[in-house]
Amino acid sequence: MGNVVVVGSQWGDEGKGKIVDWLSSRADVVVRFQGGHNAGHTLVVDGTTYKLSLLPSGIVRGSKMSVIGNGVVIDPWALKSEIKRIRDQGVHIGPDALLISDTASLILPIHGELDAIRENRADGVKIGTTRRGIGPAYEDKVARRAIRVCDLADESHLRERVDNLLHHHNALRIGLGHDAVDAAQLTQKLLDIAPSVLQFAGPVWHHLDEASRAEKKILFEGAQGAMLDIDHGTYPFVTSSNTIAGQAAAGSGMGPRALNYVLGITKAYTTRVGEGPFPTELHDEIGQRLGERGHEFGTVTGRQRRCGWFDAVMVRQAIITGGIDGIALTKLDVLDGLAELKICTGYKLNGKIIRRFPAGMSNQAAVTPIYETMPGWSGSTQGARSWAELPAEAVKYVRRLEEATGCPVAVLSTSPEREDVILIRDPFKG
Ligand code: IMP
Repeated sequence: MGNVVVVGSQWGDEGKGKIVDWLSSRADVVVRFQGGHNAGHTLVVDGTTYKLSLLPSGIVRGSKMSVIGNGVVIDPWALKSEIKRIRDQGVHIGPDALLISDTASLILPIHGELDAIRENRADGVKIGTTRRGIGPAYEDKVARRAIRVCDLADESHLRERVDNLLHHHNALRIGLGHDAVDAAQLTQKLLDIAPSVLQFAGPVWHHLDEASRAEKKILFEGAQGAMLDIDHGTYPFVTSSNTIAGQAAAGSGMGPRALNYVLGITKAYTTRVGEGPFPTELHDEIGQRLGERGHEFGTVTGRQRRCGWFDAVMVRQAIITGGIDGIALTKLDVLDGLAELKICTGYKLNGKIIRRFPAGMSNQAAVTPIYETMPGWSGSTQGARSWAELPAEAVKYVRRLEEATGCPVAVLSTSPEREDVILIRDPFKG
């Protein structure tokens, strides 16, 4: 039995919630290691729907330890209200159930404001962010001026940290035509919220080391997807963290050998929210149909997701950069009833055929997909729990995705219900 990392292999929203929930029911510890409350995971447990943004999915299953690692950026006010909302649904959340890294960086109101100021600029590059302040918070972390969870426990130190932070931010705000922020007021706001966070704070790396020595099963829960990774994604139309599995180690304080199996959640077609290149995007009635049948609306922002054909070139790249061992294929049933299906297996760029997604922004926007066409199926895949229940064309489609991406399907999900899964390989058994 080893530890499992679950990551998205496309642009997020691959349906991680259901798979993570299914795996977390078998894990002892569930760890978030990057991102923040830009993520949105919907879990349906025993008929109750839980919407989580920052809290690890294990929280809704009693007797698990849920951990927010140092790689996550935490908005303390959003955390407090999410804890209240989930507690109101009858879930116990105490320091025995939730541990937050004392070295995680905080998202402050100035970060959300700066995110919105940039996104609202008429002449700038619009990323289409979730406006949660994720990017500006990570900028401050890397620039070594962030306020971290541990700073909340020391008032005089906190005042110094806030002064240092505002030295930078107020110059920026005034330059952008906005009011300066009062240091005393911001410090007080932080002191007021501090107990809500500090009651859960501790050395995550130490706890995970102990859990590991006690042979507990650890599930690392990624957010967003490989193509939104700050290094390997469609830069600059990405989120501000590393979303690939390697970050599970750095973002939690465990060594890379603790990551035994990487499961890449992969949708049977492609979606994206926000701006940026999307070679296989469909602007026709098929794209609309995928969006409707797949309920493709963002959990966090409610925005409509862009939809398109499966892009095997991109997923193959995600598998390589992320070290994905097996795919959990989701939402196959959304393709039920389509006469034919297309899979992108290469691109054309300036008259040449390429098999990799290029690096530059203009080349990424200029590629056109090369498609393979496969017959669709008229039967239903919904709720199938064995290969024998799938139409032959659906099996062929899945097999072709495996070949084209170079990665086996370990889990096939055939409906939003937890039990509607075909398990080919148990990720916890490696
Ligand atoms: P940010 O993470 O709010 O800075 O947004 C940067 C980009 O990542 C935007 O294109 C967002 O739409 C996208 N993004 C952030 N979080 C998610 C997510 O959980 N699912 C899908 N896309 C996301």
